[in-house]
Amino acid sequence: MGRSWGTLAEFDAFVADGGIVEPIDDMPDEYRQAVFRFIELHANSELMGGLTERDWIPRAPGLRRKMAVLAKTQDEIGHAHLLYMVAGDLGMKTRTEMLEDLFAGRGRFHNVFHYQAVTWADQVAIAYLVDAGALISQQAVFKQCSYGPYRRILRRIIAEEGFHMRHGEEMLLTFAEGTTTQRRMFAEALDRWWWPTLHMFGPPSKPDDVLARWRIKSERNEDLRDKFVQKYATLLDSYGFTPPDPELRRDPDTGRWVTGEIDWEPLKATLSNLGPDSARRVADAATHWADSRWVREALESVAAGVAA
Ligand SMILES: [Fe+2]
Ligand SMILES: [Fe+2]
Repeated sequence: MGRSWGTLAEFDAFVADGGIVEPIDDMPDEYRQAVFRFIELHANSELMGGLTERDWIPRAPGLRRKMAVLAKTQDEIGHAHLLYMVAGDLGMKTRTEMLEDLFAGRGRFHNVFHYQAVTWADQVAIAYLVDAGALISQQAVFKQCSYGPYRRILRRIIAEEGFHMRHGEEMLLTFAEGTTTQRRMFAEALDRWWWPTLHMFGPPSKPDDVLARWRIKSERNEDLRDKFVQKYATLLDSYGFTPPDPELRRDPDTGRWVTGEIDWEPLKATLSNLGPDSARRVADAATHWADSRWVREALESVAAGVAA
């Protein structure tokens, strides 16, 4: 038997006190919806990210890189399915309904997956910047998250994201120490991916954010973004790369990096699935879903045969 709380205030106090909520608990509907929306967004983002990786398996340079991209694709698709299971257990939508919503353009996924990776250097920028940004966000959720199954599944996801980040660092070093062409390719990719990566942390958090109130998220978006900027502006600078922000500078008093003003319009467009590459990406994912229908039907008929 799960636990129940008489009032929302009692539930708030339980969560504020460090309590962990489990799927069998009689949690308030508002909490269930907030957790579900957050995990569904995360699952969709892992899936769309995995599909980008998959696109690069044939184009990755050399066997070693191909093996790494293949493994990363499997990791990301695996993350998506673990998260769809956790989201499905909340009883709001089935896994199939979540996937069908995503492929019909009704689902949401992170802004960075609404852009196109133009060259192999974009894949390097994604592994170096986007995976690192995602890791910072996920670690912050993992530290405090009040929903038990999500927190437990994040432990595994974070371990694998750590490999992706290291893989990105290793590829970045190859480019940084490479030819003039390689350095130019990475500089161009950085121009394309710097701002979307900063947007990925989300707009400044509002004081009444339910995600913070129920410890689904434990740190403010702007604090996580700042953590990323302090680390990556320093690293990129040390490799001689300059992010596309003419106002990015070190504060002479604190020594901390300060960015220029962030334009939120590109993020808003992606939230409505109107990013630069949203339509192609969703249509591509939907085509694969339709093309693999025979596999699902074959599995269902085998399962029905076993059950009969
Ligand atoms: Fe992932
Ligand atoms: Fe990843």
